[in-house]
Amino acid sequence: MLGSGQSAKMPTKIVIAVVLFFSCQLLLFWSNFEDLDEKKASLEAAVARLERRKDVLRKQIMDLERESFRINKTLLRSEILLKDRLPLLKNPRNLSPIFFVTPTHYRPAQKADLTRLAQTLKAVPNLVWIVVEDAEKLSEGIAAIVKSSGLQYGHLHALTPTNMKLNESDPNWKVPRGVAQRNQALSWIRTNFAGTVRGVVYFGDDDNTYDWRLFDEMRSIEKAGVWPVGIVGGQLVETPMVSTTNGSVVGFNARWKPNRPFPIDMAAFAVNVSLIHSYPNAQFSYEVPRGYQESTFLVGLDLQRNELEPKAANCTEVYVWHTRTEHPKLNSFDRRRFQLRENLTDVERRAVL
Ligand SMILES: *[C@@H]1O[C@H](CO)[C@@H](O)[C@H](O)[C@H]1NC(C)=O
Repeated sequence: MLGSGQSAKMPTKIVIAVVLFFSCQLLLFWSNFEDLDEKKASLEAAVARLERRKDVLRKQIMDLERESFRINKTLLRSEILLKDRLPLLKNPRNLSPIFFVTPTHYRPAQKADLTRLAQTLKAVPNLVWIVVEDAEKLSEGIAAIVKSSGLQYGHLHALTPTNMKLNESDPNWKVPRGVAQRNQALSWIRTNFAGTVRGVVYFGDDDNTYDWRLFDEMRSIEKAGVWPVGIVGGQLVETPMVSTTNGSVVGFNARWKPNRPFPIDMAAFAVNVSLIHSYPNAQFSYEVPRGYQESTFLVGLDLQRNELEPKAANCTEVYVWHTRTEHPKLNSFDRRRFQLRENLTDVERRAVL
């Protein structure tokens, strides 16, 4: 049969073809297999490289996070500095001067209090610090503090009289501190800054606490500026009350002697220096009831309540606190030597004189 004759030959060819085909496949497979081995090796190498890279990157991320934390901290610090200080540093020469009057008397914490105040005022541009000692003569220790503040200053003294005639029915009345000293400062300003019409006068005791923003607020005062004072008069804050309709002072929240013409603390106001010159007799007085020093002075400047300029965001911010330094408990040996200023060691003198 034709078909079977041919079919006897065909299988051989087919077999050869099949064998060839599979040989090729096998070769191909082997070559692929070797390729795969290589690929596997190179992939493993790549994985190892990537692992190393991952470690490096992880370390870099940690470094960057640390750096970013550090930068944020610096940024925050700078923002705080800018917010608080920029208004004061903008143009120191064009800022009207502040005459900051500090009466001070001899006591164990005097040097500490004045040091703290000097370091607050040091940062304030165009401020004249007038320190008036309640003493017969100037003290060298205080002179050193005032000089090293780097501020313009006046260092004066005025002794509080001890034999004041007590014309006061109040049994708690004592000769008030600060009267002679503030008056001495006023007379010094009237003499030494006679031609000065720009600037404000502020009475800043040596143990109060002052926010720098207070100084920025007071520079714009035209006649008399007022603001809240923290922790004073038995209250958390004493403040003028400001009308929300026209922004003028309409009252005060003081509970202690609220009928005073100006029921406010010495730290609650500042006045334009031109008023000090215009009213040369305006001053503090021993002849007034307790708590009337501020009112006596402001009435002496012919000021009315409705002329007061509310500062510190319409009297809603507190930038000064009537803090008191506690009387230190000294043993009688040290107290006596301090009072007499005798037999003090060098380091003791440095602590308190
Ligand atoms: C104070 O109050 C007045 C009147 O309500 C207002 O015009 C003014 O903008 C306020 N000032 C501040 C600093 O809040």
